[in-house]
Parts: sequence; structure tokens; C-alpha cells
Amino acid sequence: MKIGVPKEIKNNESRVGMTPAGVFELVKNGHTVYVQSGAGEGSGFFDGDYKSAGAILLDTIGLVYAMSEMIVKVKEPIEEEYDLVQKDQIVFTYFHFASSEPLTKAMIKSESICIAYETVEDEDGALPLLTPMSEVAGRMSIQQGARYLEKPVKGRGVLLGGVPGVQPGKVLVLGAGVVGIQAAKMAAGLGAHVTIMDVNMKRLRYVNDVMPSHVITEFSNEFNIRKHIKTHDLIIGGVLLKGAKAPKLITRDMLKSMRPGTVIVDVAVDQGGCVETTRPTTHEDPVYIIDDVVHYSVANMPGAVPYTSTVALTNVTLPYVLKLANLGWEEATDNDESLQKGLNIIKGEVVYREIIEAFDWEAEAV
Ligand SMILES: NC(=O)c1ccc[n+]([C@@H]2O[C@H](COP(=O)([O-])OP(=O)(O)OC[C@H]3O[C@@H](n4cnc5c(N)ncnc54)[C@H](O)[C@@H]3O)[C@@H](O)[C@H]2O)c1
Repeated sequence: MKIGVPKEIKNNESRVGMTPAGVFELVKNGHTVYVQSGAGEGSGFFDGDYKSAGAILLDTIGLVYAMSEMIVKVKEPIEEEYDLVQKDQIVFTYFHFASSEPLTKAMIKSESICIAYETVEDEDGALPLLTPMSEVAGRMSIQQGARYLEKPVKGRGVLLGGVPGVQPGKVLVLGAGVVGIQAAKMAAGLGAHVTIMDVNMKRLRYVNDVMPSHVITEFSNEFNIRKHIKTHDLIIGGVLLKGAKAPKLITRDMLKSMRPGTVIVDVAVDQGGCVETTRPTTHEDPVYIIDDVVHYSVANMPGAVPYTSTVALTNVTLPYVLKLANLGWEEATDNDESLQKGLNIIKGEVVYREIIEAFDWEAEAV
């Protein structure tokens, strides 16, 4: 198969859909890989690296789309790319169709085969192509939180690990899912005292089994949250209710009970945040202060570490890319139920129920 890897042109997106290692695997399997010149630069992969791995470099995004049977990228096509997508072309990327009607209509019109990373689903309901980004954000939340606890940026002036003779900092993690566990692990590694809360006892039992003894589990309810926010220096929001807005576990009035300089990193900001005062911020201007509490709520945290994020993402997408290339999309999705769940639009027809529901479209009107 002919596979194309265009440069991402969405604002501030430095990731790329395939690493040189991915190109190497595909070429080894007899496929041709076209990579747009400069596509990997933002992630630290250069044209020479792709060439050595067996890719053919193309100068323009138009050529990559025109010559490829399958496009592998990171973000959904933006308006400038809509007309580049070809009839019968496979496009494998994050789409998040339900949040954009124009994109959905454009992809219907293109008559391409759209397979969305975010809806590929394991038999146990996990989303394997979303997990790595939660892992990145969870680990990063402690790095960022530690930084904003410093006094010059209005934090409490606490070193998370403490030093001999001084108590370590205290980290409260809301949610013991992917983000929460990675955050707790990083904080514990720095020597901080960690409290992690969830409403799912299975998750708490797991954390209790695998984490060191300075990571304490506690059931998540308003009473316990009100108690802990008074004494913890850094609070991480990693809560998710699938398909719904995050519950507001910290309300505006609670900020007053926190010590000045407490830092909140609300990773769940992309689902509205689990703190009432959360609003999305950017890497250029990541924090704001309300009632002396520092709020960090960057909606695309993995974007700040494109090398790690690209490698983490392509580690999990490559097996599916290989399957699609080796078998073609029909056989590949017939043989693999997880991948089949990724099918969103097939040659002009929306096949993912939630998209039709999101726009209130009747199936026959689509
Ligand atoms: N900001 C970013 O850049 C970024 C990056 C990746 C993920 N995220 C977001 O982070 C959030 C968490 O993602 P995840 O992969 O860890 O999800 P997950 O499903 O693995 O974990 C969420 C956890 O929240 C728990 N939970 C639900 N209600 C709760 C409550 N009332 N109190 C405490 N815990 C509760 C669930 O039981 C679950 O264990 C999501 O909104 C995700 O989209 C943001």
C-alpha cells in the first residue's frame, strides 16, 4: 500500500503521525511510505532519518495526499486540508467528529474512509489510542505542578520532595485512572506525600496494591475533598465520566479554605474540568490565579513534549497501521473488533452512531 505522512498544519501541533521506526516497519512489509519534507522536525525527527528508514520524501502536502492510499496523521484535517482528502482514501487520525459538524460534512463529501484513533476500543472498553496521551499528561502534571509551587511564580514555595529535616510536599490526586495513577507515581517518586481519591473501589484497591506506602488511597466524596484541600500543596484533577462533563469536585467557595499558593493542575480541563473555576489555558499562558490559588489548565498538555508524545502515540498506532496496510481496511476491520470500532465514516456514510446523535441527524438525512 502507498502510505502518506503529511506535516501537521494545525496551530501549535508539533507531533507527527509516524516515526522513522514506523516507516522502517512498513517498508520492511513491502509498503511505500511518502513523508512530507519537514513533517517530523517538531518532534525531533529529520528528513534524513526518514530517508534512511526507507521513506520517499515529498515537498508538498498536496503531493502526499494525492499519491497515497492511506494517510496517517495526528490531528483531524483542518479546513485547508478538506479538499486534499481523496475519494476511497483511508484517513487514520484523531478526528473527534462529534465536536465539528463542518469537518464531518467535509469528510462525508470526500468519500474517504475515516478511522478515528479515539474510538478504537479494546474488548474491556479501554481506549488504547487515547491512553498514551493521558499517560503523558498525568506525568507532566507533577512536573508542571512542582514548577508552579515555586515562589517566583506565586506558588507556596514548597519543594515537593522536601529535604532532610523538612516535611515533603503533599499532593492530592482526584481520580485514579490513567492520568491519576501516572501523576501519583511521579509525585511519589519525588518523595511527596500523596493522597489519591476515586469513587471506583477497584481502582483504589489496585493503587493500594501497587503503590508505595506513602501513597494513601481515600474514597472520593465532598466531605473528604473539603478536608484534604486545606492541607495539600498540589491538587491534580484527573477525573473522567465517560462521554460526560467532568463533575465539579472543587467549587469556587472551597478555594478560600486552601492555603495561598496552593496549585491546581486540572488535567480534566478538556472535559470542562473538575474544578468550578477552571478555564482552558495554553502553553503560552498556562496559569491564572483566583483567591491566591494558582490554576494550571492547559487543554493539550502533551503538545509541550512532542518527542515523547509522538513516540508514545505511534507505538500504539503502528500495529493498526500495519494491519490496515497489509490487509486493506475491509479485511483489517472485519478481523479486528477494536479497529472496527474506529470506523466513523465510510465513503460518505456515517457509521458511528454517536456522530449522528451529536448533530441530531436522522440516519436517512445523512
Ligand atoms: N489536558 C490534557 O492535555 C489532557 C491529556 C490527556 C487526558 N486528559 C483528560 O484527563 C481526564 C482523565 O483521563 P483518564 O485517561 O485518566 O481517564 P480514566 O477514565 O482512566 O480515569 C478517570 C477516573 O476518574 C474516576 N472518577 C469518576 N468520578 C469521580 C469522582 N467523583 N471522584 C474521583 N474520581 C472519579 C473514575 O472512576 C476513573 O478511575 C480526561 O478528561 C481526559 O480527557 C487531558
